Amino acid sequence: MPQRPYIVGNWKMHGTRAMLSEARAIDRAAQRHMKVEVAIAPPYTLIHPVHREAKQIAVGAQDCHHEDGGAHTGDISAAMIADAGGKFVILGHSERRQNHGESDELVRRKAEAALKAGLRVILCCGESEEIREAGKATEFVTGQLKASLPEFDEGDEAIFEKLTVAYEPIWAIGTGKTATTEDIAEMHGEIRKLLVSLYGEEQGREIRILYGGSVKPENAADILSTPEVGGALVGGASLTADSFMGIALAAAESEEA
Ligand code: 13P
Repeated sequence: MPQRPYIVGNWKMHGTRAMLSEARAIDRAAQRHMKVEVAIAPPYTLIHPVHREAKQIAVGAQDCHHEDGGAHTGDISAAMIADAGGKFVILGHSERRQNHGESDELVRRKAEAALKAGLRVILCCGESEEIREAGKATEFVTGQLKASLPEFDEGDEAIFEKLTVAYEPIWAIGTGKTATTEDIAEMHGEIRKLLVSLYGEEQGREIRILYGGSVKPENAADILSTPEVGGALVGGASLTADSFMGIALAAAESEEA
């Protein structure tokens, strides 16, 4: 069954309760675009308030700890996110990998903890500008992803529906530069090949692959109609309902095309 495009807003460290009106507006608009799956990951402090009000969109987190609980000052577990109404978590974002020294191994353990707590996982990967210029982007991204993917019991089929991959080239994040649709198609094709080689034809194709990095209403239609792009992970343009839903609308139209 073809899946609906998945449009996810990563609010990063933006948003106080004043932003709840934007979340409400996103939720209302999402009710008019049921062909698209819309979700937002606000800061932890807004997960529960958004969850309480949202009728259509899912709310999630931008990170979680890899353990269930314990003496980890300042950290939040996957079970706490689920308790607050979170349905998913973004893991391995390049800002976490760079600013908090997160290794592939740590990201993998976080993904395993999140799945155990019943959350869906959006697992991020992406190369720096230096790696791309050195012609090593594919090798790097597939290696990073392979090492970050969660391990799970062989019979656990439900996992594939819970797992999403996001390809976010670091040099395209917040810069206004986007990868060309040729580059996106090539990288998403390589990621798909990896997923199929790991999980088999059927399950490997069930996992959606999102693109992230300066996605805006103006470029969304081209990006979302690129082969193997199952949606978008959106930073800056997800902070207002107008621009975020402009992207969701482009996704809805690409479905109809
Ligand atoms: P921008 O859309 O602001 O480039 O951010 C992308 C991103 O990092 C989403 O996770």
